[in-house]
Amino acid sequence: MNRTTPGRLAFILALALAGVAAGGQPAPRERLLMDFGWRFHLGNEWGAAQNLAKSGTGFGPASVAFSDASWRRVDLPHDWAIELPFDPKADASHGFRAVGVGFAENSIGWYRRTFDLAKADTGHRIWLEFDGAFRDCTVFVNGWFVGHHEGGYSGFRYDITDVAACGGPNVVAVRVDASQFEGWFYEGAGLYRHVWLVKTAPVAIAPDGVFVYSQFKDNTPVGPAEIRLQTQLANAGRTAADATVKWEIFAPDGKPLASAQQKGSVAGTAASDYAQTARVETPELWSPESPKLYKLVTTVTDGGGHALDRVETAFGIRTVGFDAAKGFLLNGKPYQLKGTCNHQDHAGVGAALPDRLQYFRIAKLKEMGSNAYRTSHNPPTPELLEACDHLGMLVMDENRLLGSDALHLDMLESLVRRDRNHPSVAIWSLGNEEFSTQATPAGGRVAATMQTAVRRLDPTRPVTFNADTGNLFAGVNEVIEVRGWSYHIGVANMDAYHQAHPQQPNVGSEQGSTVGTRGIYTTDKERGYVTAYDDNAQPWSNTAKDWVSFFDTRPWMSGGFVWTGFDYRGEPTPYNWPCVNSHFGIYDTCGFPKDNFWYYRSWWTSEPVLHVLPHWNWAGREGQEIDVRALSNCDEVELFLNGRSLGRQTMKRTSELKWTVKYEAGALAAKGYRGGKVVAETKNETTGAAAAVQLAPDRATINADGEDVAVVAVSVTDGQGRVVPVAMNKVSFTVEGAGRILGVGNGDPSSHENDVEISLPGLRTVPVDGWRWKKVAADKAVDLPEEAAEVDDSAWTPADVRGETGPLGPQDRGVFRSRLSVTAADLAAPAVELWFGRLDGEGAVYVNGQKIGPTGDARAAAVYDIKALLHPGENTVAVGLACWGVTAGPNKGVALRFLESPAPTHWSRSVFNGFAQVLVQSTKQGGTVKLTAQADGLKPASVVITASPAAQRPAVQ
Ligand code: GAL
Repeated sequence: MNRTTPGRLAFILALALAGVAAGGQPAPRERLLMDFGWRFHLGNEWGAAQNLAKSGTGFGPASVAFSDASWRRVDLPHDWAIELPFDPKADASHGFRAVGVGFAENSIGWYRRTFDLAKADTGHRIWLEFDGAFRDCTVFVNGWFVGHHEGGYSGFRYDITDVAACGGPNVVAVRVDASQFEGWFYEGAGLYRHVWLVKTAPVAIAPDGVFVYSQFKDNTPVGPAEIRLQTQLANAGRTAADATVKWEIFAPDGKPLASAQQKGSVAGTAASDYAQTARVETPELWSPESPKLYKLVTTVTDGGGHALDRVETAFGIRTVGFDAAKGFLLNGKPYQLKGTCNHQDHAGVGAALPDRLQYFRIAKLKEMGSNAYRTSHNPPTPELLEACDHLGMLVMDENRLLGSDALHLDMLESLVRRDRNHPSVAIWSLGNEEFSTQATPAGGRVAATMQTAVRRLDPTRPVTFNADTGNLFAGVNEVIEVRGWSYHIGVANMDAYHQAHPQQPNVGSEQGSTVGTRGIYTTDKERGYVTAYDDNAQPWSNTAKDWVSFFDTRPWMSGGFVWTGFDYRGEPTPYNWPCVNSHFGIYDTCGFPKDNFWYYRSWWTSEPVLHVLPHWNWAGREGQEIDVRALSNCDEVELFLNGRSLGRQTMKRTSELKWTVKYEAGALAAKGYRGGKVVAETKNETTGAAAAVQLAPDRATINADGEDVAVVAVSVTDGQGRVVPVAMNKVSFTVEGAGRILGVGNGDPSSHENDVEISLPGLRTVPVDGWRWKKVAADKAVDLPEEAAEVDDSAWTPADVRGETGPLGPQDRGVFRSRLSVTAADLAAPAVELWFGRLDGEGAVYVNGQKIGPTGDARAAAVYDIKALLHPGENTVAVGLACWGVTAGPNKGVALRFLESPAPTHWSRSVFNGFAQVLVQSTKQGGTVKLTAQADGLKPASVVITASPAAQRPAVQ
């Protein structure tokens, strides 16, 4: 899929505003972000909402007439699971949020959005694209069912052309069902990835229909690059169409380099593949150290030369390979993978990461020298791969489950088709630790089928699978191109396997799994904290030192991926409630480093690194022995306490140094030597008491595009501005100006404080009584004179609408009427809804004689937004109903509901061992955003972030 990158925004915006393509023709393709302005409701009052009897008549929120005015406004990406309370009865592996198994009332959510399509869109193909949702989605457009998708991680799209209304409003409703978990880690709930509205000509590039790659002799880039260009065109029309594809390649600096063209035709309602080759004479190779991106522009024209489509694709020129003896090869040379495994989960936002946070996290991983990322255990969101392409991070792109059935093969193939242009993607992973099947003959056959499917779509990258089977050549391991190792370091496992299967390359696809809590040096089971010393391997896993040392002397092992780069919600190993987060991360959930960060940075980079742990605030432990360690890649490290040398020690490669030091307040300092010279120094000082709050945004200026985020570090410091490493103060936050707080976090794995503050709109409810009714002789119950604005109904029969049934009997038709008295003050409400507890029977509802919609489904309340039809004083309501069952009529109550603005939210979070984090998101208005932090007894802090006017991505208005 073609994706928008920040660098292209201005150009795209200019085109979108002008409504033209580069050649002056009307824009042949529009890809509009559909993230803003959704309405959200948690609850399942309407069941499946799909009318299996009649088409185009979804129930409740799926129907066009339904009012969502009282639903909460949300922008995507959105994860409702982080809004839910913690509950000890909830699933530990999902972080004890009250969702999923056992919490039916919190597990189904509805999203609704109205959008306009222009008359000029007539004749275009119109698509809704979802980058992924958790979990199963049923999508309705204008009351029509348009698709059902199962699975929490793969993208999906629906062609909605037939049911879309061009030249008017359209309603999309999405029912998201998160009742069922997939993983054993926090997965979120809802539309936690982007949604897009795509418009194309009937003859257009097929979804994910561009593939560009280069191949070199011996898989080593020497000399010019042959660029293979493939494009699939789809013709939605009934008759064959002539179409020419033109490919243009632009260098990383934007200069045009090469082009190719092919004429052809596409049969009606069919697809055609076009392919050519172009040459780049002196390619600038992509690598994590130099992530050079080329651009391919694919244009399609019809027989008369008119533009039909245009798609831009970023790509890189590079080769990847896995060699049984030399390990991973990048651009033909051995290259050690220094990787981390990660879930899509961050403090404050759960699984719903704004794109900017993907960049923030990848940059953090690069800070410690990491060059590879495994998308455990599922297809990533596409923007993660864009961040990896741009910043330089290799990716092991992982499929969710083993399976060669149609559903799972389709998910695998759509992953490969979607992601195969990304230069960052270096290897595909078919899955993870399939305990029951990975070592069976069937597991092997399934993996072989999947591997063949991947290779058919992508001849450039190998395939692996993360097997926790040790030295076992059975099932998947027998067929997989690259043996993936989940743990099991050691001579009896990896070495013995390698000797027995010397032709099979190996990768440490999951290693480490040591646990530690940031800033904690005394294990505290009650609170759920484990020390940050690298001592806490789990029974199945290894410390950082152990696996890094083992791999260090085995060049045939392609490097490894640590479990994990960042902490994530769920899997609170080695604890349970009240602990709600994992402790596996090198960084906590906010991205604050734990001590192991300096271990990895020592052995994954060459610049001098020197770090001493623990902190030096041990009041009350004077004279007691403290376990002090140095993490460094210097030859020698010397430790000093208050100026006295405690000895100089030689660092063994991939190791750490230890001292036992009797505590006295002051300064614990260290010097690192290389070749006898001091190349690094560090100092941990005993701080004074907490005195002030500090705020430090990662960027002083963000884009005023409604998406960009400043990641603000909150710290508590002493009178001298030194972070107090044991501070736990509660801090409250306010924001003014052109921004909003998106979420807060602190990395405390046992915190039950709120990540987000939400406020639901209030509803003032006034019963509507005084109903009268009469039977009518008409053959249907709609558009009758009795439903007009003014009707003398004084002689009609009074109706009690508060009971359990209505007065109509089998085959009866009837009209019910009442009055709605509202004042001008009532009508100042943001919305006024007419609510019926139940409308059984088929017909329509009228306000002041105007039809506001059909009566819908009798199983759930019907609700209509009628504010626009009301005037101060007396208004009339009429309901016409035909009884096709035993009884019919309004019952279970009728009310007017006046919407009230949501109450203001109050944000706070405690610092955890000195630090917390606030995510501040821009609005679409330029200006300044002022964030203020206050805590009892501490000097407050404010910071001003500039939201600078910026191109906004073309979006659904
Ligand atoms: C692995 C698994 C990961 C995580 C990890 C914890 O076996 O693949 O998802 O659970 O263990 O150590």
